Amino acid sequence: MTAEPLEIHLEEQDVGRNLRQEVRAGLTAEEKWLSPKWFYDARGSQLFEEITRLAEYYQTGAERAVLLDRAAEIATVSGAKTLIELGSGSSEKTRLLLDAFTRHGDLGTFVPLDVSVSALRESTARIAVDYPGLRVRGIVGDFTRHLDRLPAGGRRLVVFLGGTIGNLLPAERAEFLAAMRAALEPGDWLLVGTDLVKDPAIIVPAYDDAAGVTAEFNRNVLRVINRELDADFDPAAFDHVALWNPEREWIEMRLRARHPMRVQVLDTEVTFAAGEELRTEVSAKFRPEGIAAELREAGFVTSEFWTDPAGLFGVTLARAE
Ligand code: AVJ
Repeated sequence: MTAEPLEIHLEEQDVGRNLRQEVRAGLTAEEKWLSPKWFYDARGSQLFEEITRLAEYYQTGAERAVLLDRAAEIATVSGAKTLIELGSGSSEKTRLLLDAFTRHGDLGTFVPLDVSVSALRESTARIAVDYPGLRVRGIVGDFTRHLDRLPAGGRRLVVFLGGTIGNLLPAERAEFLAAMRAALEPGDWLLVGTDLVKDPAIIVPAYDDAAGVTAEFNRNVLRVINRELDADFDPAAFDHVALWNPEREWIEMRLRARHPMRVQVLDTEVTFAAGEELRTEVSAKFRPEGIAAELREAGFVTSEFWTDPAGLFGVTLARAE
């Protein structure tokens, strides 16, 4: 079957407006920050794919191991007719679920949602070819803003993989989960992947690899801003920093200015002192009881919680109450 035309809920001008607004807010703040969502242009997405293949970056392999083990159970327990994937990217790991649903379930529709039109075009076309009989409806949208646009009806399973939920700050996460619950009906399902709290000696190298791929990924956000907002950041003048925050139990990526700088962005001049840091990402790590509590707070009941054999990464299957 061929994929249906993409449903576009996010136009290029919305993305541009959102970027300008966030960059202005983040770079004029007392403690400078940028949202991790701006990493993922074509080069950033390619660098992230490279990260997932690094020895230090255990998350992708660990989550894949859980899905490989549990896909059949996810298909039978959820009994979903519609599978919705948030932040789907290439949908590579989701194939493990689609394979299991093909064998054990009676899935009719796959709905990947992503901000990237190009990623969706490619993934929906491939999946439609590889899973004949499956209806494939790609949605171009932002999972923090467009959850009210998900297709209604049928028993739905929403999957949010890769630990991406950890990019949201705690208040944003609560808001996201509440919006997610509001978009679903009792009896619908949510499958969410979360990286787990563990020895920082394992976490930190995953965000500061020996080959320097993560450092390039981090600096790439400056290239995106240069191109999209006609700014003049010198990415090479920033050092990559990965810092474990033991109180908040999250890792932060930052870019540290090597020397004092003035950068022209939008209509303002942004100054950096030598050594000043710009936060570019928070990636929260979770404890099993914390995940269940946050889900419960939002109106979900945890049905299953699985980890890979080493206990690095968690996958939760929860039901909307
Ligand atoms: C895709 C958001 C899950 O937080 O680990 C990889 C992104 N950042 N290396 C993560 C990322 C640095 C990744 N997520």
